[in-house]
Amino acid sequence: MSEICVLGIFVADISFSGSKIPSIGETILGAKYNVGPGGKGSNQAICIARLGGKVNFFSKIGKDTYGKLALETFKKNNIDTKHIIQNENLQTGVAGILVDKNSGKNAINVITGAPSTLTIEDLKDQINLIKKSKIFLTQLEVPLDVTLHCLKVAKENKVLTILNPAPASELSNEFFKYIDFFTPNETEAEFYTGVKIANEEDAKVASQKLLQLGMKKIIITLGEKGLFYSDGNEDIYLKANTVKALDTTGAGDAFNGGLAFGLSTRKPIKECLELANKVAGISTTKLGAGDAMPFIEDLK
Ligand code: RIB
Repeated sequence: MSEICVLGIFVADISFSGSKIPSIGETILGAKYNVGPGGKGSNQAICIARLGGKVNFFSKIGKDTYGKLALETFKKNNIDTKHIIQNENLQTGVAGILVDKNSGKNAINVITGAPSTLTIEDLKDQINLIKKSKIFLTQLEVPLDVTLHCLKVAKENKVLTILNPAPASELSNEFFKYIDFFTPNETEAEFYTGVKIANEEDAKVASQKLLQLGMKKIIITLGEKGLFYSDGNEDIYLKANTVKALDTTGAGDAFNGGLAFGLSTRKPIKECLELANKVAGISTTKLGAGDAMPFIEDLK
């Protein structure tokens, strides 16, 4: 039995690192480029596996060069590929990522490809595995009806649910009933609440609004400012670990993977947050997303 099920996408991340993120109409001469595994769900699954968690990843890919990269990546990271749907008529997606090498910040355009055709019917077998798992983790890169259905089934079967609401998308109120942990970054939290987040106090106001929607626990990740957690009774603010960030792509995924892993080991919430915070920090010290996820030994 897999303890953690992750639904999401795999794409090939094509990253361009340079002295800045170019403005509209501008051309710059960059420093480096990298092609490697990406996609929020895949990054999160890799993170959990590298920390030592039992994870099942559900997605759809094409039978093409990047589909091959996906399968090789999963095998290398001990992730079962049995539940990945492969369709030769579809393309595996790609993401174009521009990275500022000085701050590690990025701008991303993702073409999801094959998983944009994912249906509830496609996931018949996988849904049975979700029912038997401890934790279900997902994001907003696959069709919303599929995401909603899986969250609902998970909740009806008493599985702990984590929604990393990225990229920010309009959600129906029904979604909020099925979410235990909601983990936006500050930009996404502003999208869902209208509150511009500059500090801990703003994060508290935003999290109160999110709790009123019916979700149980809110974690707003604040980049280099750390994170804010609230369940309505207990508030926790943690500073980010100080690291020299080379590339922040996938830091949110490392956070969500670390959180899911921590929760699966039944650690108290503060320890889960500290672990996730540390995992996210370390992930920014390498270029790329999936390949930058730390191993359990890297945390020592
Ligand atoms: O969270 C980072 C990820 O978002 C990248 O790997 C990119 O592929 C997009 O899905």
